[in-house]
Amino acid sequence: ATNRTFTMIKPDAFGAGNTGAILEMIESAGFRIIALKATRLSPELAGQFYQVHKERPFYADLCQYMSSGPIVAAILEKSNAVADFRSLIGATNPENAAEGTIRKRFATSLEANAIHGSDSDENALIESNFFFSAFDQIG
Ligand code: CMP
Repeated sequence: ATNRTFTMIKPDAFGAGNTGAILEMIESAGFRIIALKATRLSPELAGQFYQVHKERPFYADLCQYMSSGPIVAAILEKSNAVADFRSLIGATNPENAAEGTIRKRFATSLEANAIHGSDSDENALIESNFFFSAFDQIG
């Protein structure tokens, strides 16, 4: 079925000027952009977004890093969107990311790993609604 996922181009990739190249990989892989914006997270908003990780040892660093510079947030549509997008971005740790993946090409470390992809349909919707209203989304 055709469904949606949510992504963020993280501060390392945005700051390095890789937004265009990453969006090109995403569109070439067959994803359709439903909503898109450049924005910036405060540490508080990053903390809310990553609530699920709040007990993890990397949480404080992650919130600091994700609020360290601008990001791009987007909603993407494709058949099998969540799983196919996670294949396109590659493993969380770029050392383990396969050739041809976005993280293999652009990630610089486990934390600064260039891009986010939702891990389930349910989280895709929660994360999309965190950044976008219905008005921001094309049909
Ligand atoms: P992501 O999977 O998109 O969401 C959680 C983020 O936390 C992850 O990407 C990394 O950017 C960051 N992170 C930092 N350290 C770790 C770690 N040890 N394990 C998993 N994620 C980490």
